[in-house]
Amino acid sequence: MEKEFQALEKAFHQTLDTIKQVKDLEGVKTQFLGKKGKLTGMMKQLKDLSNEKKAEIGKKINQLKGEFQSSIQEKSNALKKTEFQLKMENEWIDITINPYESDSGSIHPISLVQQRLEDIFVAMGFRVLDGPHIETEYYNFEALNIPSYHPARDMQDTFYFEDGHLLRTHTSPIQIRGMETVKPPFRIVGPGKVFRCERTDASHDSCFHQFEGMMVDRNISVAHLNYFMKTMLAEIFESEVEVRLRPGYFPFVEPGFELDMLCLLCKGKGCKFCKQVGWIELIGCGMVHPNVLRSGNIDPVEFSGFAFGLGIDRLAMMKYDITDIRPLHGGNLNFSRLFSVS
Ligand code: PHE
Repeated sequence: MEKEFQALEKAFHQTLDTIKQVKDLEGVKTQFLGKKGKLTGMMKQLKDLSNEKKAEIGKKINQLKGEFQSSIQEKSNALKKTEFQLKMENEWIDITINPYESDSGSIHPISLVQQRLEDIFVAMGFRVLDGPHIETEYYNFEALNIPSYHPARDMQDTFYFEDGHLLRTHTSPIQIRGMETVKPPFRIVGPGKVFRCERTDASHDSCFHQFEGMMVDRNISVAHLNYFMKTMLAEIFESEVEVRLRPGYFPFVEPGFELDMLCLLCKGKGCKFCKQVGWIELIGCGMVHPNVLRSGNIDPVEFSGFAFGLGIDRLAMMKYDITDIRPLHGGNLNFSRLFSVS
């Protein structure tokens, strides 16, 4: 019997040594400890033995059983450990490396100029207001002193909706909406997209951007208008600028002006950039028409004001030396990246 025990123990350990995976340990368990296993087989032989022997061999069998069980457990722990380590080594990934090439965005030149303009005016006490792209005739025309019979409506080719709404042709409706929200004295600016039924070419598009401004207070004169326009242009172009006012017609201002800036490149001599004129036409502006103040419930005897509107796209094109408006609106990321300021 002793020999049989030794042989069994040996066979058990040899078998255990060949096991490389936790899942194969089940087989060893069945082979040695299972119902039809070798140890159970030996138990079955006990009944033929004397009581004395029974006790002795039974004890031995139980001892072996415990030994086998703990050996299998130990082996299982060891295998689990190495399997885990192997897994860790094989499935290791470096999460500190970004697998995708970084593709960070940049701010579009139109937004750059718009944000700069907002900053300049906020620093001078102006509030930034917004307005809807889809407007009523009242805000886009009537309240701005352009009644339906007025030929000035033809100055801006308008996209109409069937229900009478329209895509705003300028940011001037923000003047009216502004007067409805803030009480005079006030200073407001309103940037945004505007739409006109224009044929697209190097300097025109059916959607472009304007920046509107309005200041209403007691005793506001053209001198104030001049000061604010000069200050804004000097900030945008980061140099001293010279401006001139020419008479210009806009029904919502009286008097109305076209403000030109002395060409920064040729200083007035005439060059390709200013089309040999020496001056660059930039801003429509003037003193707010009394009828417009009245539409905003403001007494034109007590208050006066100036208003202006400029094309942000134009300003961006001048600032960044862009000669065609189409790539400016084209949405090509490589284009806007050229002007990134990060
Ligand atoms: N709204 C005018 C335009 O689009 C510009 C303007 C604004 C003129 C304010 C005068 C005062 O042409």
